[in-house]
Amino acid sequence: MGPVKLAPSILSADFARLGEAARAVERAGADWLHVDVMDGHFVPNLTFGPKMVADLRRATALPLDVHLMIERPEEWVDRYAAAGADWLVVHVESTRDPAATLRAIRQRGPRPGITLRPGTPLEAIDPYLELCDIVLVMSVEPGFGGQPFIDGSERRVAEVAKALRTRRHPAEVEVDGGVKPELCGALVRAGATVLVAGSGVFLDPGGVDAANYRAAVATAKA
Ligand code: DX5
Ligand code: ZN
Repeated sequence: MGPVKLAPSILSADFARLGEAARAVERAGADWLHVDVMDGHFVPNLTFGPKMVADLRRATALPLDVHLMIERPEEWVDRYAAAGADWLVVHVESTRDPAATLRAIRQRGPRPGITLRPGTPLEAIDPYLELCDIVLVMSVEPGFGGQPFIDGSERRVAEVAKALRTRRHPAEVEVDGGVKPELCGALVRAGATVLVAGSGVFLDPGGVDAANYRAAVATAKA
């Protein structure tokens, strides 16, 4: 699985300067760029669509980790694949046939992934784990950055990591929501291989700080 990856979420960046924000976290040592797509239906908030992914694709060399918080993601697979998404993650609650959606993603090029709301039992994703290259554990209710980490989410990370080990299926285990540097050690020990961080990396207008996360991840591995 390799080293633990840091995936800053541009949800907390200045939307008027997203290209600069992407390049700033790239310079700061980010591994991936996490792109939160929200449709105002699956979640109350609204962000951006495939054109933003295509524009970010030209702005940065970082792999684009696209988290689709939209209804009927199956109807959008082609467009996000064409836009250059490297990872395309769908919510199990959002699509009638998650297996078909995951297969369609792989067929179109991106690496497929599944995720679930913090209140959805982990059994809901069980049937789909082997179709995924990444499993995303939400540690806040999806929709907004800057929310507090839901206690106990590290146990869900550990359960997902265990389920993947049991199946001998080496997918990435990603955690998203309220991840602050002081939580990174426990999450990595629980089995997380990709850490998303929005408000902890993108500080007030224009500022970026990933050094605290990099240090936390380095210590956790030791
Ligand atoms: C929430 C998003 C997260 C969010 C994380 O719906 O999926 O990616 O941007 O931001 P923080 O780290 O501020 O919780
Ligand atoms: Zn996200």
